[in-house]
Amino acid sequence: MKVLHIDASLRSAGSVSREMSQTFVDHLKEKKDITIDRLDLATERLDHVTQLYAEAMYVPYGQHTEEQAKELETSDALVDRVMDANVIIIGTPTYNFGIPSSLKTFIDLVVRSGRTFMYTETGFEGQLKDKKVIVINSRGLSYGEEETKGNDHVTDYLKTILGFVGITDMQFVYLDPTFFGKEATEHAKTKAKEQFKTIINRW
Ligand SMILES: Cc1cc2nc3c(=O)[nH]c(=O)nc-3n(C[C@H](O)[C@H](O)[C@H](O)COP(=O)(O)O)c2cc1C
Repeated sequence: MKVLHIDASLRSAGSVSREMSQTFVDHLKEKKDITIDRLDLATERLDHVTQLYAEAMYVPYGQHTEEQAKELETSDALVDRVMDANVIIIGTPTYNFGIPSSLKTFIDLVVRSGRTFMYTETGFEGQLKDKKVIVINSRGLSYGEEETKGNDHVTDYLKTILGFVGITDMQFVYLDPTFFGKEATEHAKTKAKEQFKTIINRW
């Protein structure tokens, strides 16, 4: 089983999402034979997509200018890594009610016409149908109540974009609230570990 392990927290020490995405990897390792490709979005900084990129992404392969081909190199390499994985583990915090901009840039670079999705006679067709994804989302506040649910722009967004590229097997595990001290955070971690077991047993 090939695993792409992504982290988006800007904190290298004390990050709850990093700790728990690593815990998930460790649990998975106990049950499955895995190889790991590590993508740390805090240290492997990705540049925002550009005008040249937007032009190049719609040009069929073999017809790119040298400049366009060069512009797509990072994207192509990231798409290869995504395509190669059977399982994608995403550890991410909530920042300003959404995903970190580093994770958004990664998404901008891997959602590629002709690679991760196709435009067919019947509409868009995602090409990542066989992948399993787990999103491990740490957040300062909880969003379970009716009046706060609408402020969680991580879940709906990721469900939409992962669905767009064909992923149906996706799990969300939340670590919250992390704003209210050690006890609440530890409780969230314990709950998450239980969910990890259930998910891994199903895989
Ligand atoms: C720039 C920034 C923005 C944040 N915005 C939110 C937010 O909108 N909602 C929320 O619940 N927590 C927010 N937080 C808190 C983080 O989601 C929380 O501390 C989380 O545990 C961080 O993940 P980490 O421990 O993996 O770094 C924010 C933190 C930072 C640094």
